[in-house]
Amino acid sequence: MKTLRGFVKYPHPLLEDLYKEALKEKFPVIEPEIGNLLYMLVKTVKPLRVVEFGSGFGYSALWIALACPKDCQIFCIDYQEKNLNRALKLFEQFKVSQNITYLLGDAEVVFSDLRFNDESLDLVLFDHEKQRYSESLDLVLPKLKRGGFIVADDIFWKGEVFQNPPKSVKAKALKFFLEELKLRKDVDFSLLPLGDGVAIIRKR
Ligand SMILES: C[S@@+](CC[C@H](N)C(=O)[O-])C[C@H]1O[C@@H](n2cnc3c(N)ncnc32)[C@H](O)[C@@H]1O
Repeated sequence: MKTLRGFVKYPHPLLEDLYKEALKEKFPVIEPEIGNLLYMLVKTVKPLRVVEFGSGFGYSALWIALACPKDCQIFCIDYQEKNLNRALKLFEQFKVSQNITYLLGDAEVVFSDLRFNDESLDLVLFDHEKQRYSESLDLVLPKLKRGGFIVADDIFWKGEVFQNPPKSVKAKALKFFLEELKLRKDVDFSLLPLGDGVAIIRKR
């Protein structure tokens, strides 16, 4: 019998191999189901400007780049140089280099330095330090268009966010983040039990 994973449709055959490589290396990339979800969201939203906080070696950015319009700009941010070199090679291999700028540094610092105009971003992916999601939300929301999306990965943290109280610092921070989303009047959101949990947040 096929599992959910067995029904994932890959827009490029190498994406499946790349995920297997990441698993072998224990490199935490988004699960293919979430890649699939991002792909569908990007096909629907047709974003022109996307930012990713925590890009690793570019696996999640590839799912986005394979779905985005020709003139879309994707800004990948990560603070590890070894990730950048690997990502740039992959972007060439997948023929998406023209859409992607990969920037090295702390995600929030680089994001601020980019000085995006208010309400100019269509989509932002959070996959960096879980303790930073909340402050990153405050930073990103003014720059996001009304109707724009933030996708936040790993928000259930192996189910720990449902413990009362959560034990780890990361799970505590994620629980705070989810509670904050519920209270905020400027966003709608939906939580999906894919991978380690994913939040789809829409600016009102
Ligand atoms: C879960 S991995 C990202 C995987 C990637 N999104 C994917 O699915 O292919 C998290 C990445 O975030 C980076 N990272 C964590 N905190 C960061 C920060 N504050 N600023 C920049 N990069 C950060 C790490 O170096 C790591 O590569």
